[in-house]
Amino acid sequence: MAADLRRFFELYAYQGVDTPVLENLDLFLRKSGDEMIARMYSFTHWNRKLCLRPEFTASVMRAYVNGMQERPLPLRLHYAGPTFRYEKPQRGRSRQFTQVGVETIGASGALADAELLQLACGALESVGLRGYRLVVGHLGAVLQLLEQLGISPHGQTLILGTLEHLARRGAEPKAVTERIVALLGHGGETRDAASAGDAAPLGDLVARLGAEEATRLAQGLLTLGGLPLDGGSRSAEEIVGRLLEKARRVDPARPVATAIEFIGRLHRLGGPPESALPELRSLMEEYRLDTAPLDEIRRALEVFACYGTQPDEVVIDLSLGRGLRYYTGLVFEIYQDGAEGPLQLCGGGRYDDLVRSLGGRESIPACGFSFGLERVDLALSEAKPPPPDRPAADVLVAPLDEADVPAAIGAAEALRREGVRVELEVRPRGVRAALRRADRAGIPSVALLGERERAQGEVVFRQMGARTEERMPLAQLAVRLRAER
Ligand code: HAM
Repeated sequence: MAADLRRFFELYAYQGVDTPVLENLDLFLRKSGDEMIARMYSFTHWNRKLCLRPEFTASVMRAYVNGMQERPLPLRLHYAGPTFRYEKPQRGRSRQFTQVGVETIGASGALADAELLQLACGALESVGLRGYRLVVGHLGAVLQLLEQLGISPHGQTLILGTLEHLARRGAEPKAVTERIVALLGHGGETRDAASAGDAAPLGDLVARLGAEEATRLAQGLLTLGGLPLDGGSRSAEEIVGRLLEKARRVDPARPVATAIEFIGRLHRLGGPPESALPELRSLMEEYRLDTAPLDEIRRALEVFACYGTQPDEVVIDLSLGRGLRYYTGLVFEIYQDGAEGPLQLCGGGRYDDLVRSLGGRESIPACGFSFGLERVDLALSEAKPPPPDRPAADVLVAPLDEADVPAAIGAAEALRREGVRVELEVRPRGVRAALRRADRAGIPSVALLGERERAQGEVVFRQMGARTEERMPLAQLAVRLRAER
């Protein structure tokens, strides 16, 4: 199956690349996100921090930075191999699994994004999968809002890390907000949204006045209000200094709450492109965000439609986070909705900053995706009716008596040499016992060998289903059995 998928990628001019199973831990600490980091198998060997690769993208980009920067762009690469994540094993989720995927380095825009969608959907169709669901998102909306709200890089990472929990695992927005605010060092200070917002203008004012002027103003106001600043262990200057410091530190509760609420609204507006794109546009305009991400999705889907590949359903969901921290633009996932729940077969997207952050000479746009091979296998087997149980043997060769055993073994071996699967009756107890054994084991035919057959180089061939019996030379039996398979 991996070979079939890779052959499909080669039709689109992708070339194979190999990366090591054992990697530098550092490579994945930079841009993977907390969730992935928590799932890595990592250890120290002779003072070097190593890990089993949890995915390919960072490794392929490192390989590009180390040895392929001279190659003409765009560079199209495909790969396959074992990956490892410490997770609770369950249906379609194991600690060692196989990823098969591609990375396109040095191409941006709708054509490149559409080619990626085509490679993912087309490859699945090429191995016989139908009825899958394509979910398309874009990190642009959430990233823009986080910047606009002035949320720190650490805060942004925490929020992006919760996208998956909020949108797909039903996490409670209030609890998520409180946890993030606490992690940002404002635990216990989470005020309600209205009062939390008052801190931001105050912080701005202090910054604009400068320390000296702000101190003078604060002291003047406190004196005017008749609030005593003396008598304690701290000087008046110290008390005012601390108050100003606190005012300068913007309480993240309000912006974090705004971001979490926005993500919830994005998710609720998700749906087919025709209805979701206009509604998402209105929402982004309400938050004064650039709607370019929606244009990028629309254009990529228009180009993708030219390939004629047919997902059962296409859904837009701008709250799609993908759980990895390096994505910057269009992202997507492919699901198969089986009786036992949805199975994510593939995930990927655009990550235009990764090359630079891994030490590349310049920023290079890039995108890619990976399949979970075992999940693709599982989806294919769940989609097909289960094959009827095939018996282990095509024929039971049954000696009727101990004296018939050498001839029966000879006959069985002769049939096996012809590729016939043979069970030898090892308890020669007569015709009825042999037929009972074949019946119970579902073996479709029996070759009975007694004294008379032995003497004439024949067998009695019985077909269990038709209940027919005929005598035939041993040499003819193999031809007959092969024809019936
Ligand atoms: P990912 O979504 O973390 O993305 O993994 C890709 C695929 O691997 C998933 O869609 C799923 O089918 C499969 N998978 C993940 N975890 C497991 C597991 N525990 N057991 C079985 N299958 C699993 C990435 O890894 C990105 N590197 C994809 C990418 C490539 N993005 C850009 N380029």
